[in-house]
Amino acid sequence: MVKLISSHTNTINNSDDLIYIIDSIDNLKNQNLSNDDLEYIKNELVDNKFLIETKSYNSRKYIIAFDDSSKIDKPEYLRQKGCDISGLINKSKTENISIINLSSDINLTLFLAEGVALSQYKFDKYFTKDKKSLTLKTITIYDDNIEVNNLQNIIDSVFWARNMVNEPVNKLNAEILADEISERGKVSGFTTEILTKKKIESLKMGGLLAVNKGSIDPPTFSILEYKPENHTNIKPIILVGKGVTYDTGGLSLKSTAHMDTMKSDMGGAATVAAAINAIALNKLPIHVIGLIPATDNRPSGNAYTPGDVITMHNGLTVEVLNTDAEGRLILADAISYAARYNPEIIISVATLTGSAANAIGPHATVAMGNIEKSLFDKLKESGDDVYEKIVEFPFWDEYKKPLKSEIADLKNLGGDYGGAITAGKFLEHFTEFSFLHLDIAGVAFLSKNINYRPSGGTGTGVRLLYDFIKKY
Ligand code: BES
Ligand code: ZN
Ligand code: ZN
Repeated sequence: MVKLISSHTNTINNSDDLIYIIDSIDNLKNQNLSNDDLEYIKNELVDNKFLIETKSYNSRKYIIAFDDSSKIDKPEYLRQKGCDISGLINKSKTENISIINLSSDINLTLFLAEGVALSQYKFDKYFTKDKKSLTLKTITIYDDNIEVNNLQNIIDSVFWARNMVNEPVNKLNAEILADEISERGKVSGFTTEILTKKKIESLKMGGLLAVNKGSIDPPTFSILEYKPENHTNIKPIILVGKGVTYDTGGLSLKSTAHMDTMKSDMGGAATVAAAINAIALNKLPIHVIGLIPATDNRPSGNAYTPGDVITMHNGLTVEVLNTDAEGRLILADAISYAARYNPEIIISVATLTGSAANAIGPHATVAMGNIEKSLFDKLKESGDDVYEKIVEFPFWDEYKKPLKSEIADLKNLGGDYGGAITAGKFLEHFTEFSFLHLDIAGVAFLSKNINYRPSGGTGTGVRLLYDFIKKY
């Protein structure tokens, strides 16, 4: 894990590997660069190269500049340049790098550091040999007015989410996930209560229990809470995360072609836990509660079957027409359980539908809900700021209709179109409270990295939720 350090400027050592952020070549005067280097950098800039690497015999210098003619998103530009530099750092096996921001905007430094740090991730714990681990240990920011701890805690939380998503189900079932979360809570300062199968039965969580029927491992229901004395919200914010530790589809079995990626079906749970972890570490003055129903979804002699009618935690009955639409069943129980906290808002986070992933791919989270427009605007603003973008889908009541069942209150399957929306509408039946739903099916897990989001678990949603809740 890379450590961020902020340090005073006059200790710069010329033999350090350095990254300069500049908005003009003149910034580099008096930086002890050789005339040859300066000439080289000048020529590269003329050629519109905005990330320049120079190597003197004992150190490397990276220069990041901007093309003034284009209207770029500077924070994201710097994160992505940070990712590019991370690749160069890996090649040169650099251990320590420092950032010097010579541009007129001091805010740019942290975005660059964030991009480098988020790129320095590798899930390598299961290699027993040939482990090509990353070498970078520290990123020093030469400006001690810049606070790095908050960012460090956010990045640590993102990495924790990635790690959980990358763990296969034979290493991380519902009970291990719950333990992992409560262990982390003790360190980071949030409380946890783990409801076991008995308690889940006594609460009549029929959705979670139905999905769990095919499993040999018991389900868990984790309750995370962070309630600092100085919290400013009267009613809590509730985050509900889908914790399907593995989704085979159950009896409505998926094809095995890409089934391995379904270890990521607890991505919502990981996002929720990691966001609360970051909120607790950074001591935001907000009362937040996380609810995580967890189980795997498998076929077996005792598995729930298409055609079953189940009774949910809030008493509604659901006709199960496809056992692969399991996420909404476990989330619905958690969403109705949330009512006991009289929440300000309920936010569900889930790798819920292939429909969401197909609609926009890995580039944005699909969001929908019945929250006020001004709040939606804030969510989109957070999405733009942290570059975990939000696409709002409609949430009209027309999309409720396909959920009508012939024999029960609801069925768990929608119609021929709008699968992500009907799934969201299904969930809405289980609460009277203000409700926002984030479908992260497209962004939680990547087959190939996209900039600083690695292949495998990405932790996408953690920075978004943290930012949104911080500004709530
Ligand atoms: N976990 C899947 C959704 C998913 C698909 C997540 C691809 C990530 C990538 C979910 O449980 C599921 O299987 N949904 C079905 C619902 C359908 C049967 C109504 C889907 O989207 O196909
Ligand atoms: Zn499924
Ligand atoms: Zn699923």
